[in-house]
Amino acid sequence: MDKLVIQGGRPLLGDIKTSGAKNAALPILAATLLSSETHYFENLPALTDVKTMEKLLCQLGAKINQEGTLHAVQVKQIDLCEAPYDLVKTMRASILVLGPLLAKYGEARVSLPGGCAIGARPVNLHLDALKAMGAEIGIAHGMIYAKARRLKGARIVFDVPTVTGTENVMMAATIADGKTEIHNAACEPEVVDLACFLNHCGARITGFGSPQMTIEGTPSLPNGGTYCVMPDRIEAGTLMLAAAVTGGEVMIRQYRGGHLASLIETLREMGVKVQEEKGGVRVRGGPVRPVNVTTAPYPGFPTDIQAQIMTLMSLSGGISTVTETIFENRFNHVAELNRMGADIHLEGNQAIIRGVLALSGAKVMASDLRASASLVLAGLVAQGTTEISRIYHLDRGYERLEEKLVALGASIRRVSSPL
Ligand code: EPZ
Repeated sequence: MDKLVIQGGRPLLGDIKTSGAKNAALPILAATLLSSETHYFENLPALTDVKTMEKLLCQLGAKINQEGTLHAVQVKQIDLCEAPYDLVKTMRASILVLGPLLAKYGEARVSLPGGCAIGARPVNLHLDALKAMGAEIGIAHGMIYAKARRLKGARIVFDVPTVTGTENVMMAATIADGKTEIHNAACEPEVVDLACFLNHCGARITGFGSPQMTIEGTPSLPNGGTYCVMPDRIEAGTLMLAAAVTGGEVMIRQYRGGHLASLIETLREMGVKVQEEKGGVRVRGGPVRPVNVTTAPYPGFPTDIQAQIMTLMSLSGGISTVTETIFENRFNHVAELNRMGADIHLEGNQAIIRGVLALSGAKVMASDLRASASLVLAGLVAQGTTEISRIYHLDRGYERLEEKLVALGASIRRVSSPL
């Protein structure tokens, strides 16, 4: 398993371009199951999770070819309606094939995703919504068995906003019989990107990006063609924090204005200089003040940036807090940050971070995708050398992160290790 070796203390300087968004690419790839046309995708990120989704689609019967930077995807027919455990256990987002398979082919067998490092990750809201649209759903032997002669439009009210739950219903509803309304829909930009792709294919979705979404079912999605996946705002936020924590100055290109308003507001409150410019956002680091953050569904503070901002808070001149309201176990990075000299303690779903003068390099272990990003940020600013093992977690959601950081002046290298 590879590890990263980082020499800390070098301010990041320069320009960097983010890759395509993982959490838009995954539902958009799943949505190709709804259509028989060929889709050409630009800006698909080269991530483990994207490769896993493409592998799952090919197992179902899709034909996928890479033509230069374009990925051509066509699902003329499927050979199989099953997303097996050995794939789903590596990527929970495999649940996103459930809605499209059910709507287009009338049946689907998807392994229950099960939990992951950050929480139980239930899918009850997905299943209840599809049942309301007329699906028969049973669970046995760790598998979801779903059947539906033809899905019908329905009025869906989510108890809590669920990103992939909203996406599963949106996809299923595009070719269901009649109108579907989703209330308390997720408003994340990645949900909006999926809606834009589906409408590009011929769907009739309105209200996306707001809690009330309406989908008028159509018999089919007749359009293929080229679609460019949105830039990854979570990667952009991680790079903003890398600039801030190292006291450097970085221009992050491809950042779409408004996608991280909550993070930018928080950074400014901490004293970080953030300037949105044409085509991106410029961040300049320096001494930071403490701040209190509570994660929330979009447009609130993103839970996917919580671990990363905690690294910056650990070097602020006072006491900050992070309250995690989305997932029940998303503080796996805290113990490792403390081993690097941070002073963080946990009280239930709240982390209390007392700023310290410096972090010190150490051997640490990644535990989940965003926790590993917070350890990279810590290594960039720590005194001495940091070695991060199990960085396969990082490769799930960041494309060539160490190369991007080296281009900005960081001393970071990937070392393959047999262990
Ligand atoms: C998506 O996960 C993202 N993944 C996550 O990003 C992100 O952290 C999360 O949304 C929240 O923004 C993808 O888009 C592939 P949810 P998702 O359903 O859809 C509860 C990353 O780091 N819930 O919005 O699985 C759930 O337990 C990943 O890139 C139910 O109770 O999250 C949680 O408390 C991590 N029942 C809350 O809703 C359900 O059926 C929000 O979860 C579904 C969800």
